[in-house]
Amino acid sequence: KKIAVLLSGRGSNFVSIKKKIDEGAIKGEIVAVISNKADSKGLEFAREQGLEAIFVNPKEFDGREAYDRELVRILKEKGVELVCLAGFMRIISPYFVSEFRNRILNIHPSLLPSFKGLDAQKQAFEYGVKFAGCTVHFVDEEMDHGNIILQAVVPVLQDDDDHTLAERILKEEHRIYPEAVALFCEDRLKVEGRKVFVI
Ligand code: GRF
Repeated sequence: KKIAVLLSGRGSNFVSIKKKIDEGAIKGEIVAVISNKADSKGLEFAREQGLEAIFVNPKEFDGREAYDRELVRILKEKGVELVCLAGFMRIISPYFVSEFRNRILNIHPSLLPSFKGLDAQKQAFEYGVKFAGCTVHFVDEEMDHGNIILQAVVPVLQDDDDHTLAERILKEEHRIYPEAVALFCEDRLKVEGRKVFVI
């Protein structure tokens, strides 16, 4: 399948997906990497890899939907079938969601529905939970709310701080995000109501 990755920062999840594609574990190809930040590490890596790396400047658009219309235009022009949000630090408009319903994935560094929003690992750490983790989910109109595809659990250890916990969670992100992408590309995800079955 034709995949686009949207990111804003270091892009380690993007790297993990790209690696699995190169290994042949994902039946897909990345046809565009798009960022809202000109200097994002992820965009730089995309360029180094010879991928199409596109900076779309939010300042050139009047509001969220106008920006998203440009993204959707690019995605359609490239025939994108799957959109992977990988540290894309913008909220997606309902317009964007409706154009790619059940075809946008996101990774969130908590066991949803707990700890939505920013700094999820720190939220979990401060709350005092004994287990934390990450979630790959479809994106819907509400933030960190769409149907859950895969989750992974990690323990919170006595001598953790929020950084050591975030590192442990990130390792699992790099495992389950490519796995979810692989399942999607093989048409093995079946959505029924709120549930996603692996078939
Ligand atoms: C990850 O923690 C991911 O769960 C969250 O944003 C971060 C992105 O990291 N959505 P990276 O840019 O993939 O390294």
